[in-house]
Amino acid sequence: MDALPFLQTSHLLLFLVGVISALLVWKNRGRPTGFERLPPGPPPIPVLGNILQIDIKQPYKTYMELSQRFGPVCTIWLGPKPVVILSGLQTLRDALVTQGEEFSDRAAYPMSMKITRGYGILASNGHRWREIRRYAVTTLKNFGMGQRSIEQRVQEEARSLVKAFAEHEGAVFQPSEDLGKAVSNIICSIVFGQRFEYDDPDFLMLYSTVCTYFHVLCSPIGMLYNIFPGIMEYLPGKHRHMFAMLQKFREYVRRQSDIRLKHLDANSTPRDYMEAFLIKVVQEKDAPNSEFHYNNLLGSVWSLFSAGTETTSSSLRQMLLLMIKYPQIQARVQEEIDEVIGQDRSPSMEDRLKMPYTDAVIHEAQRNMDIAPISVPHKVAVNTEFKNYYIPKDTTVFPLLSSVLYDPRLWKNPNNFDPENFLDEEGRFKKNDGFVAFGLGRRVCLGEGLARTELFLFTCSLLQRFTFVGTRPAEEIDTNPTCSSFGRMPRTYQCYAKPRA
Ligand code: HEM
Repeated sequence: MDALPFLQTSHLLLFLVGVISALLVWKNRGRPTGFERLPPGPPPIPVLGNILQIDIKQPYKTYMELSQRFGPVCTIWLGPKPVVILSGLQTLRDALVTQGEEFSDRAAYPMSMKITRGYGILASNGHRWREIRRYAVTTLKNFGMGQRSIEQRVQEEARSLVKAFAEHEGAVFQPSEDLGKAVSNIICSIVFGQRFEYDDPDFLMLYSTVCTYFHVLCSPIGMLYNIFPGIMEYLPGKHRHMFAMLQKFREYVRRQSDIRLKHLDANSTPRDYMEAFLIKVVQEKDAPNSEFHYNNLLGSVWSLFSAGTETTSSSLRQMLLLMIKYPQIQARVQEEIDEVIGQDRSPSMEDRLKMPYTDAVIHEAQRNMDIAPISVPHKVAVNTEFKNYYIPKDTTVFPLLSSVLYDPRLWKNPNNFDPENFLDEEGRFKKNDGFVAFGLGRRVCLGEGLARTELFLFTCSLLQRFTFVGTRPAEEIDTNPTCSSFGRMPRTYQCYAKPRA
């Protein structure tokens, strides 16, 4: 879609929403009390706060500029609410690790609250979050024991992905759909115990619901919904279509739960995440205040789908775009694949230790992409003293991951795509504490291990079989991701997957 009309529509909507809000709060105007010792920031205007000062196409750039102007802890008003922006590795550690108890609650985003009602992992807090997160972490680990491990599931899917790419027979195509389906299928395999064919109607429903959710969340409509939910509920737009799709997603999960409940055997090894969770529901049915009930099962399934699909598939999409832009880097990765894995077997995670260059390229693609500039927003769980400021309970906090991933003090070459950022002089893989693409502290990405497995095995499997070539000369390819209020997404592109001899 042409960017300009899109922007105009969003500004018009913003204006309308502003006028309606101004009327609604007419009697209550004025700066609320209790915010006197908030960290510094630009002065807000009534109702709209600072939103007219935000670069709507790249909000994180505004946050970076503000933190340079006002310091590593500063405040911006999004509509009538203050948001504290944290920047720099030390400040993020001080807040999310040292004062993790205060800074680890999840901000209640209206869109995600409407979908999850605070159940599951991603949007829950307190006792519920601790219980359900701990359970998810252990269950995902246990899937490596006694049955097909997560690595085997990813290897199986990688073979299907290679097959799907081969079916394009060297003709031009858009890789986003195949990559998205492969990644989504991994979550299906974990949650429902089976992978689907890419044209299966149930699978297409699950996959397109998550895609639509992400698309809306990252659009100006999504941003407006999260600032003015009460008003947006009554306005037309694609958010309404998304909520209707989500209803179908819920009905499918309910049907799957009913099927498992009919034959549930608490003494057998669970075949998938849903079955494992349902066994726990049965075991704890008489325990007072147990968090193991259907709402948290549905919420967990949604957390895994929503957090685990677009993140990984976008990272892979960006990875291939970078390979197209830098053919010499692609050739070096292929050389390492040929040396360590060869052409006769599937890549495995053991290979990674012997492939420092490939490992560095994958890390660097993630660093450079900076997929979640403000992480997934947090809030303070209680009234909080932090670096001589006072942040009232429930204030939203943006951990500005971009400020670390692009910090010139941490990276040799922060502004370019340069695998040397992760290599030492001898060409060995070099860890860097500034690699915070998965967040940090108690809320750190729960799927980090899975995502790393997918990124390595999918990348190696694809580059083992194909060389990726663009439809335009390398110098004309723009690898800067597009940006929204939530994330940075790779640009849409077409390419050729040329089978390797
Ligand atoms: C390249 C891929 C991925 C990236 C860059 C990524 C990044 C992130 C980030 C930045 C957060 C927020 C951390 C915070 O709140 O401080 C997060 C949370 C989360 N991620 Fe990921 N993620 C990826 C893949 C996955 C996958 C594959 C899964 C599925 C298993 C997953 C599940 C989650 C969940 C459930 C949370 C919420 C954790 C909580 O609230 O306690 N992510 N991720």
